[in-house]
Amino acid sequence: MCGIVGYIGHDNATPILLNGLKRLEYRGYDSAGLAIRQKDGSIKATRRVGKVANLAAALTTEPEDSGLGISHTRWATHGGVTEPNTHPHASWNKKIFLVHNGVIENYQQLKTSLLAKGVTFENETDSEVLSNLIAYNLEQQSEEISVKSVNKAIRTSLASVEGTYGLAILCSDLPDSLFGARKGSPLILGVGKNEMMLASDASAIRARTREVVYLDDNQIVTLNHDNFNITTFEETEVVPEISTISWKDEDANLGDFEHYMLKEIHDQPSALENAFRGRLDMEEGISKFGGLNLSRQAIRHIDRITIVACGTAWHAGLVGEYLIEKYARIPVEVEYASEFRYRNAPMDKNTLVIVISQSGETIDTLEAQREAQRKGYHVIGIINNVGSTIARENDGGIYQHSGPEIGVASTKAFTSQLLILSMLSIYFGRTRDLSYADGCKMVDAIKELPNLIKQTLELSDSIKAIAKKFAHYHDFLFLGRLEMFPIALEGALKLKEISYIHAEGYPSAEMKHGPIALISEDCPSIVIVPDDETLKKNLSSVQEVKARKGKVIIITDSHDIPSSLADELIIVPKAHNCVRPILMTIPLQLISYYIAVELGKDVDKPRNLAKSVTVE
Ligand code: G6P
Repeated sequence: MCGIVGYIGHDNATPILLNGLKRLEYRGYDSAGLAIRQKDGSIKATRRVGKVANLAAALTTEPEDSGLGISHTRWATHGGVTEPNTHPHASWNKKIFLVHNGVIENYQQLKTSLLAKGVTFENETDSEVLSNLIAYNLEQQSEEISVKSVNKAIRTSLASVEGTYGLAILCSDLPDSLFGARKGSPLILGVGKNEMMLASDASAIRARTREVVYLDDNQIVTLNHDNFNITTFEETEVVPEISTISWKDEDANLGDFEHYMLKEIHDQPSALENAFRGRLDMEEGISKFGGLNLSRQAIRHIDRITIVACGTAWHAGLVGEYLIEKYARIPVEVEYASEFRYRNAPMDKNTLVIVISQSGETIDTLEAQREAQRKGYHVIGIINNVGSTIARENDGGIYQHSGPEIGVASTKAFTSQLLILSMLSIYFGRTRDLSYADGCKMVDAIKELPNLIKQTLELSDSIKAIAKKFAHYHDFLFLGRLEMFPIALEGALKLKEISYIHAEGYPSAEMKHGPIALISEDCPSIVIVPDDETLKKNLSSVQEVKARKGKVIIITDSHDIPSSLADELIIVPKAHNCVRPILMTIPLQLISYYIAVELGKDVDKPRNLAKSVTVE
């Protein structure tokens, strides 16, 4: 995790780096720092514990900034959240300054060897090993310090490093050079007019330039203000491919909303419309996708689908399991990416692997994808972040087009993943044995969805009032059956993430096999009750909770549930089963949001979390 930004150009680097860091705070906000080359040639580092705002506050006087600097926002892995552990890290001789995203797995061994050679260390991080190692290897070269010698020292050093890194590096003797290297952690080069940038992702660059080069693993880049050169670790020149970022700046602006999470909840009508635009064929009752790289014949031959993801995306995968099995009749397994990679699950020859990731950078998911590809499986991705590593490496995929999601708790990206899985179940189903009539009904339901979401969002004020009443409870149960079970899991996760309240998701009927012991007047349950064949059974679960004095909030699309049965009744619009999980999700997002606000929590940057987890 962590976010890095580097700048070289003619403007002051400090405000550009601070702005970039703010955009990257979703990657971690334990501490932040920057190192700026001053007009007198010295390099000045400033580091602060806490959010980027703390760092910005520490930089009150206009710096003697020469337009070259590196910066970092940290999510702590090795070493506590302290100022000495905050990046940038300087080598003991102050020749090399660097910022690092990733984990150096053999840092202890490298540190011991450098200590034996007389190199001194100041902090507990794995990253400091890199600045010292590069400086040490530079010192060992007899030649004068130059771009070439620093490049060589970086190359030699990285050859002995095990682990992952995205790096931005400065050498105090080189006033017009910035270096970057990548292995396993993302690094993007921004190509501007007489200025260049390095960053963990495009959002940190977008304000200065839309032209970017996505570096690949095992590449080193050397930049000055008007040029750059990329080589592989084996010193082969790389011909760069410049891409243009398409996101509009206003997509990432808060507008009139108090928090990004609330904005993104309200973005959902348009985010979901973006996900289905151009992908529905009303005439044929089928959905269509440009980039799957799967022929209709290949789809007919799929015996099994394995969905791999983490966190909220894993919950989306679980809903996908129900939808694909129901409408396409293909057996589906859903695995945590971190488990999939290491457990060597036996898979059928004709298994299709689907990875789901909002960021496209989650290392567990990326490594699971690589493992599946190593074994020869066709892997398709459902990814939001265009040009991200997972998207670039897979064999085909579907972009979500949700726009940037800044709030750490995923909202619009989750519902758009649900929609894409629903469309995929139509596409696979219609290619196998879903009828034309059923396909048409589903496609129609998807087209109606933005309106139904808007109607659901109109419940905000009443949900806010409910949230206020329930904000003081310390435990919650979330219950749902079939495809509403993963929605219950997601509801519980949202509440945990942003309000730090203990919450558990359970299949409604499983509740009586254990969690029922938790129920009391102090542990309310939020029960999802769709108007379908499970309605009566779900209401029995509600009765079991009520009989034990548990308070109940029912989320339903039925108008026939007596209000006396629930303490609170939230009624969403009726919709086809293929999109119903999306509508049931929205009240859960709002409940979590308003409870967290009521408790005064930092909704967009909850403690200990990061939006994109790029360490295993
Ligand atoms: C982190 C975030 C979660 C997210 C998960 C997967 O743990 O805190 O909110 O669901 O990563 O992220 P991805 O970008 O792969 O969807």
